[in-house]
Amino acid sequence: MKSIMADPYPIRPVTREESAAFRDVEDHAFHAGVMPPERIALWERLFEPERSLAAVDPSADTTSAVCDGAIVGTAGAFTFQMAVPGAVLPVAGVSYVSVLPTHRRRGILRSMMRRQLTDIAARGEEPVAALWASEAPLYGRYGYGRASTDAVFRFERAEGAIAGQADPALSLRLVAPGDALPELTKVYDTALLTQPGFFERTDAWWARALWDPEGSRGGGGPLRCLVVSDASGPRGYALYSALQRWDNGEYLPNGLITVRELIAADAAAGAALWRDLLSRDLAAEFVAAHRPPDDPLLYQLADPRRARPLVSDGIWVRIIDLPRALGARAYACPVDVVLEVTDSLLASNAGRWRLRAEVPGVAGAAGGVTCERTSEAASVALDVRELGAAYMGGTRLGALAAAGLATEVRRGALGPLSAAMTWDPAPWCPVIF
Ligand SMILES: CC(C)(COP(=O)(O)OP(=O)(O)OC[C@H]1O[C@@H](n2cnc3c(N)ncnc32)[C@H](O)[C@@H]1OP(=O)(O)O)[C@@H](O)C(=O)NCCC(=O)NCCS
Repeated sequence: MKSIMADPYPIRPVTREESAAFRDVEDHAFHAGVMPPERIALWERLFEPERSLAAVDPSADTTSAVCDGAIVGTAGAFTFQMAVPGAVLPVAGVSYVSVLPTHRRRGILRSMMRRQLTDIAARGEEPVAALWASEAPLYGRYGYGRASTDAVFRFERAEGAIAGQADPALSLRLVAPGDALPELTKVYDTALLTQPGFFERTDAWWARALWDPEGSRGGGGPLRCLVVSDASGPRGYALYSALQRWDNGEYLPNGLITVRELIAADAAAGAALWRDLLSRDLAAEFVAAHRPPDDPLLYQLADPRRARPLVSDGIWVRIIDLPRALGARAYACPVDVVLEVTDSLLASNAGRWRLRAEVPGVAGAAGGVTCERTSEAASVALDVRELGAAYMGGTRLGALAAAGLATEVRRGALGPLSAAMTWDPAPWCPVIF
């Protein structure tokens, strides 16, 4: 009885056989529709049961038709290789977080998050965890910081003109998405190396990227693929769909083009793809979601205001192993600073750390980075949440300090640290996981 009082909803991983009950909790929490069998098959390919966590209600009626079993809360993680500034690292891609509506606000999320952080740290493989938040207030209390920004662009007819001339060496081709996979992979894998926030895509993740069942097209056409190439091979691609629409009774074209993903190796390739898509005949509206806030498109448009950027939070990052995480990324300029870090959940991160980073070639340096415990006086004090926010290079520590979320203890220390942690390009994760 005492242990039940202490842990009213014990947490354990689920087995592959329990995945339907696990999914059921998610479906209730996210108001999801019925998953068709092919979608369930893809879900199963992506699911890593050994990394799952289920909160269980021992008093629940396990014969209930609502939930097949006593699982009332879920969480899990994908085993990612994700780009961070200057490196590609093992990263835990936290997902599947849900609690049955009947069990909300009893601390189940809190205990699952605490357990998951301890588990990820104990695995010892991933110095960083990342997630997409369904609601922005949820994860800061567990040390996740808002690390990237996600933008949606929307254009109306004739508003997406691209300035300058097209590169005559480039050619565009329409290809069935599945047939283009080798070309898409080549472009994506090249971009991954320098784009913080991209994660390596397995076959299953590519299947998800190209997922296009007829039932989820909302009356529109199938997923299409536009590839841009030159003599050396593919340099970019766009995955998009089109919805045929006409103004009622007036015979005016009113189509919608939705860009699901557009990735280009260079400026000319990106311009060629956008120039084609944003000028498509019979379309009156163009929408592109999950774009980076510093999308080159915004600087290539003749009239950038017409993109009407709608900006929100992208991925949230949690430092799991501070010296490994800070030691693994690169820095934009040399820095030598002592950080005083608070972390109420992972005590091994708390305390004072001396971060020293060289930049290859600057003052003849080789580019080494070290992050070690120290008893020296602190230069900058902050919580692990703010360190996570700044980790991917998109959230400036200077801005966090201006908001009172980081403190400059040694005068003049914050600016150089903020500059060193900021990175080009800004982090961008084009896929919600
Ligand atoms: C969001 C959700 C997981 C919360 O689970 P829960 O078990 O009710 O959360 P807890 O009771 O453990 O609450 C933990 C803390 O989060 C806060 N919280 C919970 N839900 C919140 C919400 N929607 N908005 C703001 N704060 C919230 C609680 O007030 C509590 O704060 P405290 O620790 O400062 O007291 C659950 O409501 C849910 O499944 N929602 C729908 C699916 C979803 O959005 N999942 C998250 C996917 S990223």
